Amino acid sequence: MVTVVTHPLVQHKLTLMRDERTGVKEFRELAGEVSLLLAYEAMRDLDLAQERLRTPIVEDDFPVLSGKKLALVAILRAGLVMTEAIVDLVPAAKVGHIGLYRDPQTLAPVAYYNKLPADIADRRVFVTDPMLATGGSASAAIRSLKDAGAQGGNITLMCILTAPEGIAVIERDHPDVRIVTAAVDSHLNDHGYIVPGLGDAGDRIYGTK
Ligand code: PRP
Ligand code: URA
Repeated sequence: MVTVVTHPLVQHKLTLMRDERTGVKEFRELAGEVSLLLAYEAMRDLDLAQERLRTPIVEDDFPVLSGKKLALVAILRAGLVMTEAIVDLVPAAKVGHIGLYRDPQTLAPVAYYNKLPADIADRRVFVTDPMLATGGSASAAIRSLKDAGAQGGNITLMCILTAPEGIAVIERDHPDVRIVTAAVDSHLNDHGYIVPGLGDAGDRIYGTK
């Protein structure tokens, strides 16, 4: 299932990210802000339980988060800026990292790092990567989460921008995983970049090229 967050704040900030004139500092800040707004939607179905406490006025029952604990998993390197923003919202979440880069010739994901919470199987998992292009990186990351015991139904893939080709790959490889994104763009170009897109997310976040 794909959820596109059409909120005007998200769409406006995404447009600023697309603008080639947007510099590194502003791009990084916008990526964090859009990530928070995506998290608001992605976490809409978290379980609540009632807890009894006293306000300064009365004693009553009030909602608190309950159910499965959370994990945020960043696909390095660009996903890092997303988890760093979201963890402020859910400070009790554990944070995992999966290092993958796309081979520039084959576009196939190359794995170089994997560090996940030991109890990942028992957690709701929010995987972050700004870009879902061919879907190779995200599919491989979700595969390693499942190999570590995470259930597909407990995994949400959060991407700022997606391409139809990448969504099709995730729906084929991991039909049980939900995708939350700010937009589904038109297509991929011959180099595997999203069109119209926003360019190379990692390079724009970290000022490399
Ligand atoms: C980018 C992006 C995704 C991947 C998406 O990472 O952050 O991880 O490409 O492409 P895909 O869907 O075709 O796999 P990149 O390989 O540029 O690495 P980086 O984050 O280290 O810059
Ligand atoms: N990775 C990016 O950073 N941007 C794209 O458009 C495709 C893959």
